[in-house]
Amino acid sequence: MLNKDDEIKIGITYTTSPTGHAFSWLTAEQTAGKVLPYMFTQCEDINCRSVVPLQDTPSNRITYSAEITAPKEFVVKMSANETYVGLVDSDKKVSKFHCAIPIPSYLIAIAIGDLEYKSLGRRVGVITEPSQMDKVATELSDMGDLLDAVEEYMGPYIWGNYTIIVLPPSFPMGGMENPLLTFASPTIIVGDKSQVYVATHEMAHSWTGNEVTCQNWENFWLNEGFTVFIERHVSGEIHGEDFSKVAAQLGNTSMYQDMVNFGLDNTYSSLHPVLRGDNPDSSFSEVCYEKGFQLLYYMESLIGRPQMKRFLNFYMQEHKLTSITTIQLRQSWEFFVEYQIPGLSAEQVNEILAAMDWESWMFQPGLPPVQLDFSTPEATQSANLALAYISLNGTGSPENFAEYFGYYSNLKVVFHDTLQQHYDKVNTEILKRIDMDLACTLEIDPEVKQRWYPTGLGLFYDPVYTPAHDWISSMGRSKYLSPVYSSLQNSGQHDLGVTWFCENINFYHPVAATTVAGILDVDANTACASQSPKTLPFVQ
Ligand code: BES
Ligand code: ZN
Repeated sequence: MLNKDDEIKIGITYTTSPTGHAFSWLTAEQTAGKVLPYMFTQCEDINCRSVVPLQDTPSNRITYSAEITAPKEFVVKMSANETYVGLVDSDKKVSKFHCAIPIPSYLIAIAIGDLEYKSLGRRVGVITEPSQMDKVATELSDMGDLLDAVEEYMGPYIWGNYTIIVLPPSFPMGGMENPLLTFASPTIIVGDKSQVYVATHEMAHSWTGNEVTCQNWENFWLNEGFTVFIERHVSGEIHGEDFSKVAAQLGNTSMYQDMVNFGLDNTYSSLHPVLRGDNPDSSFSEVCYEKGFQLLYYMESLIGRPQMKRFLNFYMQEHKLTSITTIQLRQSWEFFVEYQIPGLSAEQVNEILAAMDWESWMFQPGLPPVQLDFSTPEATQSANLALAYISLNGTGSPENFAEYFGYYSNLKVVFHDTLQQHYDKVNTEILKRIDMDLACTLEIDPEVKQRWYPTGLGLFYDPVYTPAHDWISSMGRSKYLSPVYSSLQNSGQHDLGVTWFCENINFYHPVAATTVAGILDVDANTACASQSPKTLPFVQ
C-alpha cells in the first residue's frame, strides 16, 4: 500500500527497435576506416523516446547512469562521465557512465565504433576514428581558446571537460551539443578552419541549451537564438565585427526564405511556433536561430555591450539548471533593466522597457518588428560581383573577378546567395563563365557546394551533376542534402532525385531520410522498395 509522497523505484525491462528514429547503424564500409561497424544516436528533439522509455520532454531534467556491453574491439562514448571500462569475458567489455548534472532527455547520446581520443589541452579533446584523427585534431586545435572565450563571456563552464566527437559522414546535423561530448559532422573539417564556428556554437550551448533549457519546443528559440548570439559575439571578438555582421546578414536572408516557404503568416514563421501536436521537427528552420539572434542583438542595442554581458550572466544565474519559457526571460530582462543597471533614471528605464515589443517579437510571424542593419562593405562587394556576372550575361568577366579568391567562406556564400536571389536572370552561359573564372564546381567549401550545385542542377548545368551526386552520396547532413534534392524536385527532375535518394537511403540517418522523403514528396518505404533491406550490424 502506497501513501502520498512515498518514494518508489520502478524497474522497466524493455528492448528498443532497430529502426528507432534516434539510431544510425552503419556497416564498417560506411565508416571512414572501414574497420568496425558504428552506431550513434541523435535524440534532439523528440527521438530519445526511441532509446529509453521516459518522459521525453525538455521540461524534465534528469541525471542518468548507463552500463553498455559491447564486443571488446569497440569504444563506447556517451554524453556523461565515463566511470569504468573493463572486460566482462574474453570478447566483451562493459563501459559505465554517469551524468551527475540534471539534463533534459534530448541530450542523452551514445556513439560506438572504432574510436580514439586525443587531448587538445587542458579540459578539451577530440574523438574520432583513428584514420581521421590527424586532420580532425589540426582543424579543431583552437578549441581550448574558444572555450576560454565563451567562458569569459558567459561565466563558469560547469561541465568539467569538453570533447567533440567527429562522427561518420551520415551524421544528420552539423553539430549537436550533447553535454561533455558534442557530436559533429565531418563536414565541419574542411581543412581551412572555415566551419570551426560550429564548434563555437555547440560550446556555447553548454550555457544556453544545456544549463538553461527551453521548457518546450515552442520555446526552442531560447536554445538556438541565444546560442547564435553568443557564437557571433565570440567570433566577432576573434575575426572582427564585420565577420559576424556578414553571418547575421546571410542568416537573415535564409530566415526570410524559410518564412516564405512556411507562409509569412504561419506561426512557424514566428519565434513561437504553435505546434498543436505536430512533430517539432516540422517547425525547424532558421527562424528560431536568426529571429532569436536578432531579438538579442536588438536588446543589446538598447543597453550596450557591457550591460548585455552582465545581463547574460544574470540570466544564467537566475535560471541555471532549469527549463524555462520566454516569460521567464522577459521577467529577468525587466528586473535587470529596472534594478541592475547602475545610473539609469526612471525615464531611461521606462524607455528601454517600452522599446521591447515582446508581443510582436514573439508572436508576429514574418520579419522582426525592428529592421536591423547588418550590411558591410565586403558583403556588398561580393554581391556586386555576382550582379556584374549576371549583367554581362555570359559574354565576359567582371574585371575584378579575382577578388573572389580572397573571400572567406561567408563572403563566397554572399556571392552565391546573390545568384540565387536573381535566379530568373541566371542561365548556363553565366554559370559557365563563373566556373571558368572561379572554378566553383571544384570548390571544397561545403557552404559553397550547398548553393552552387543546386543553382546548377536547377538550370540543367551538366558539369555539376557528377560532383553533386558524389557529394550527396558521401555525406548525410540534412542541411546540405535539402537544397540539392529541393533543386531537383523543383526543376522537374523528381525521378533523378528519387534515384539518388534510394541509392543512399541505407546510409542516411532516419532524420535526414525523413527530410529528403518530404522534399521529394514520397514515402521512403514504397519509393525505395526495390532497395536491399537496411543492414543492421548490431541486431541479433
Ligand atoms: N541543437 C542543434 C541541432 C538540432 C536542432 C538537432 C534541432 C535537432 C533538432 C545544434 O546546436 C545546431 O544548431 N547545429 C547547427 C550548426 C550551428 C552552427 C547553427 C547544424 O547542425 O547545422
Ligand atoms: Zn544550436
